[in-house]
Amino acid sequence: MELSNKKIVIVGGSSGIGLASAKKAVDQGANVIIVSRSSEKLDQAKKEIGSDIATYAADMTDENEMEELFTKIGSFDHLVVTAGTATYGNFLETEVSKARDLFDHKFWGQYITAKYGVPYLHEEGSVTLFSGVVAFKAMVGSAVLGAVNASIANLGQTLALELAPIRVNVVSPGIIDTPSRYGMAEAERNEFYQDMAKQLPLNRVGQSEDVADSVIYLMKNSFVTGEIVHNEGGHRLI
Ligand SMILES: NC(=O)c1ccc[n+]([C@@H]2O[C@H](COP(=O)([O-])OP(=O)(O)OC[C@H]3O[C@@H](n4cnc5c(N)ncnc54)[C@H](OP(=O)(O)O)[C@@H]3O)[C@@H](O)[C@H]2O)c1
Repeated sequence: MELSNKKIVIVGGSSGIGLASAKKAVDQGANVIIVSRSSEKLDQAKKEIGSDIATYAADMTDENEMEELFTKIGSFDHLVVTAGTATYGNFLETEVSKARDLFDHKFWGQYITAKYGVPYLHEEGSVTLFSGVVAFKAMVGSAVLGAVNASIANLGQTLALELAPIRVNVVSPGIIDTPSRYGMAEAERNEFYQDMAKQLPLNRVGQSEDVADSVIYLMKNSFVTGEIVHNEGGHRLI
């Protein structure tokens, strides 16, 4: 399936993997709409994409905002939800409220977005959700994030059955160099990337474009559903 003239909504499209996916989809002639909470980030992303795409400021965790968003957008072809956050912490030291916050944001945000977006999707369209490597590889400090990501993987596979013929797939990134890690000091971040690169079979961490390639593939391939695409340079193998 070609993406030319297809209407694609990317929630999380103002940064990182979502922004790279938006750029690639625009390059393929798609009519892309990007959504995130911050109007400033959306304006900046639109400039970077360099095309007159539509932008909407909305919070994926807010049911009213998602309902209003999709009413405004109307029918469309592909929904991609890259919006999400990651928090880590030792199990015994993490407050339950913080663990709930992560579910509220990354799990319930994607759930709500899909719930309000899917009724407007064309039958031959697709949904792409975002999980992450810690769902599939246990790591110290990621009990909650691992559970959130595993829940999304399961949600995607169940929805692939329930919503068929709409296709539903999940991308699971590994360590990807995106603004989500800008909270770390640059020197510390680079050290972390170099350390990971030494351990990974492909000797590098990922870039947003690596993962955006999977997003494009999942929208285009009309015989793929219920799939979990692992974009992590072999991280589960080490
Ligand atoms: N980067 C990695 O190493 C990595 C690893 C594993 C999994 N992942 C997953 O991959 C996905 C994309 O990550 P990324 O690194 O590209 O993240 P990113 O660069 O931080 O971008 C996240 C995007 O989501 C938007 N967003 C966040 N919360 C939102 C909300 N409640 N409603 C609407 N928009 C929201 C942000 O914009 P606003 O702030 O304007 O809302 C931003 O556009 C996430 O699900 C992440 O957990 C990433």
